[in-house]
Amino acid sequence: MTGLVVAMDGPSGSGKSSVSRGVARALGLRYLDTGAMYRAMTWWMLQQGVDLADPAAIAARSGEPGIVCATDPDAPAIHVDGVDVGGPIREAEVTGAVSVVAAVPEVRARLVALQREAIGAGGIVVEGRDIGSVVCPDAPVKIYLTASAEARARRRSAELAGTTVEAQQEAMARRDTLDSTRKTDPLSMADGAVELDTTALSLDEVIAEVLRLVKERA
Ligand code: C5P
Repeated sequence: MTGLVVAMDGPSGSGKSSVSRGVARALGLRYLDTGAMYRAMTWWMLQQGVDLADPAAIAARSGEPGIVCATDPDAPAIHVDGVDVGGPIREAEVTGAVSVVAAVPEVRARLVALQREAIGAGGIVVEGRDIGSVVCPDAPVKIYLTASAEARARRRSAELAGTTVEAQQEAMARRDTLDSTRKTDPLSMADGAVELDTTALSLDEVIAEVLRLVKERA
């Protein structure tokens, strides 16, 4: 399993994080949350007062923040210039802005390079939007997780206080549209990926199915 890379892509709320961590734990692999890296970049841009309506301004500063993502599935952590930003990157301000920052090609080039460095020789489950298509196109196991829009919104609103399923569904639809229609590396199902609809499945059932695919393909 040392050289194995499991690429886990899909829209928000499809269960990527819980499934990826569960699979990594079961197989003794590392775990990388690439969404956290885009969120960390966005948090830093907001802190710096960069005008997010200006892609050139985002691009010009994208090389500055030092972003480090820990890869232990039991203790995922993300730091920007030594500051733990695990909490702030999940706040509404970052969530509302991240797709705009993630659409800037210079941001993607920088973070994809950092992601490939973290992946190194493998032994890792990597979750994101473009892992099977761009970051690791040679990954032996590529999963594309989906779920109905309502199920995804229900899961997300159960995790977050003070939001309704309807508000979540609207916010997620907006983010999904931005993520799947951007010019650079849009969210899409990679060649050779297996689509797994998790709407009617429990977490354990999804993990079991991914473990079966790993056994079959890796
Ligand atoms: O997975 P998560 O919801 O935390 O991702 C936050 C955002 O980061 C996504 O909506 C997307 O805009 C961006 N992202 C990306 N490519 C990835 C991972 C995340 O563009 N590989």
